[in-house]
Amino acid sequence: MKWKLRLTFFEEGERMIERRLTRAQVLASVRPKGYLGLDNAEAYYDALATLPDEGRMLEIGTRLGHSTTFFALAKPKWVIYTIDQWKVAAPEFTGGLELGTLGDLVKNWRTDGIFNIVPIVANSFDVPWELEIDALYIDGDHTFNAVKSDFERFTPFLKEGGVVLMDDYGTRKKDIQVFEYVESNLVQDWIIEPVEGARGVVLWRK
Ligand SMILES: C[S@@+](CC[C@H](N)C(=O)[O-])C[C@H]1O[C@@H](n2cnc3c(N)ncnc32)[C@H](O)[C@@H]1O
Repeated sequence: MKWKLRLTFFEEGERMIERRLTRAQVLASVRPKGYLGLDNAEAYYDALATLPDEGRMLEIGTRLGHSTTFFALAKPKWVIYTIDQWKVAAPEFTGGLELGTLGDLVKNWRTDGIFNIVPIVANSFDVPWELEIDALYIDGDHTFNAVKSDFERFTPFLKEGGVVLMDDYGTRKKDIQVFEYVESNLVQDWIIEPVEGARGVVLWRK
């Protein structure tokens, strides 16, 4: 593939390995106290299981890589692109997340034999993007306008039959307006499946 913009550290597919884990093994990798949560993980796993073996996911919000690792294991032949600003790009949003932490994360992934994650240090509002995706995970800035920007910027790249996953749809807090955005903008064109007992939501195009 010829790249107009080189977004990645690796050529796509260059360092991918096949790790065929069972559903139970993938779910067992979810940290009990991590950001993802087991209920979300189960629902996301089942949604992703309906999609082809080869594909691409874009995640907004890497933080400590809990969800990123889960997606990489759930879809071992996909490339998981994960965007976070880290401190280098916007200290006010990242609460002290140092770029060195990303270095450690990448080292851990490599040590664990996980090579299908491509971290991108950028702001999702203006990161250049041009790749089709099979799944989108929105878990960055949860304010109304940020969720709107992420949704509207990246869903045009979603392949037919692709899925959008979002965190914090079920969270009611100031500055977390995922629910408000989804309910006021998406009910017409999207099937909305809240994850029972958890904060996440799964969306399919109608
Ligand atoms: C809730 S955490 C992500 C948790 C992670 N998905 C997990 O489940 O392990 C949100 C992250 O989004 C990042 N973030 C917030 N706004 C962003 C933006 N506009 N672009 C990129 N990253 C952003 C923050 O730096 C933070 O690390």
